[in-house]
Amino acid sequence: MKGQRLFVRPIEESDAVPVRDFLSRNGMQADPPRCGLLGKLVGELVAVLAMELEGDEVRIEHLIVDAELRRKRIGRVMLSELAALAAKMDRRWLVASNASGREFFSRVGFVDDGHAMRREVGTP
Ligand SMILES: CC(C)(COP(=O)(O)OP(=O)(O)OC[C@H]1O[C@@H](n2cnc3c(N)ncnc32)[C@H](O)[C@@H]1OP(=O)(O)O)[C@@H](O)C(=O)NCCC(=O)NCCS
Repeated sequence: MKGQRLFVRPIEESDAVPVRDFLSRNGMQADPPRCGLLGKLVGELVAVLAMELEGDEVRIEHLIVDAELRRKRIGRVMLSELAALAAKMDRRWLVASNASGREFFSRVGFVDDGHAMRREVGTP
């Protein structure tokens, strides 16, 4: 990703086909999220984040980075963008409800509270 900027925006209905293709290419047979973000690098879809809003929490249902582009900080940037959005929506917590990805979430500042991994919005 060096020198290239990840463009992140909310998923729209018209993204359904490319998002479904992306998820399937990356081993996930799932409907495109009703609520989520996508990340693009030079116009190519490289990351999808599905989320739900619940009280003062933004719950991350899943975050998938293109298998060929992992460990290049794309996941980290997706979460920074999510945190900026959560702050605008006055939500206090980012919560990762999915058990997989624990090590990644812990590397990017999430802490296990015994039920889920969470990070307070506003902490880097
Ligand atoms: C987990 C996932 C989203 C991480 O995305 P990524 O773009 O590769 O992560 P980043 O490059 O931004 O990594 C951020 C930090 O997490 C660490 N990290 C990333 N993946 C990791 C893993 N599988 N295990 C341990 N640490 C990991 C990186 O080393 C980096 O640490 P550092 O900045 O301190 O060096 C990606 O591997 C993926 O899509 N996996 C399959 C789906 C999945 O398991 N999603 C998570 C739960 S839904």
